[in-house]
Amino acid sequence: MFDIQKFHSHRKGDFGKRLIYFDEIDSTNRAASDLARSGVAEGTVVLADSQTQGRGRNTHTWYSPGGVNLYFTVVLIPPVERLHYLPYVAGLSIARALDPWEFDSDLKWPNDILINGKKAGGVLIQTSLEENRLQFALVGIGINVNTRDFPDELRPIAISLAQALGKELEREKFLADLLFELEQLYGRITGMSWEEVKNLVGRRSSILHDCPVQIEHQGEIKMGITAGLDSMGGLIVQTPGGTEIFYAGEIVSCRKK
Ligand code: BTN
Repeated sequence: MFDIQKFHSHRKGDFGKRLIYFDEIDSTNRAASDLARSGVAEGTVVLADSQTQGRGRNTHTWYSPGGVNLYFTVVLIPPVERLHYLPYVAGLSIARALDPWEFDSDLKWPNDILINGKKAGGVLIQTSLEENRLQFALVGIGINVNTRDFPDELRPIAISLAQALGKELEREKFLADLLFELEQLYGRITGMSWEEVKNLVGRRSSILHDCPVQIEHQGEIKMGITAGLDSMGGLIVQTPGGTEIFYAGEIVSCRKK
């Protein structure tokens, strides 16, 4: 069971002050969407101990067993012209929260957290726009904290923090730390230039520049060499056919420098 009191005792900022907790839910992004429509405060966090239909990017599902990991969604209302910062701010906040353990971590575009080359966490951002105005953005984060063993199909590609560390972590403290990092970075979103965001991400990602990748987009696999992010957060890839920019898709293979 997630200990809500313990979480609040570790909480340093306002994000998560309003915490809506479910022992089990289909998806925290789905629940947060309903709540956001009815108008909850920015920084409200919807957390579940387990999810029955955890959603991943690109129509994937997110493995969400109970009692071990973190599955939560933060409701935010960023300035619409800063929306493209959000996936990177979310990825950076996870990476920063992991810093004390000195994992061999890497940000894989757009915001997968890899440890020892395997996926330890992911971010699903969903937005609600009405008449071109942003109603809210949902930052859904899943972190494999204490999973001991993954199903066969995930074992080669997934890792938990506990597996990497050789011991379990306290979920309540890690969530408090992560939300604090998110709140700090998000608080700077208006003042930060895109150049600054790109530099912060670049320092934590081995594949953003000069990396041979295969990228899957709309059922097609493209090959090329990464060349950084464009001004709207797209991944620039130099392919044999010329420069392509990906705003969605998935890197299915990359050779680290
Ligand atoms: C990915 O595919 O990498 C993104 C995974 C995001 C999973 C989290 S778990 C909490 C939140 N609720 C969901 O249904 N998905 C996100």
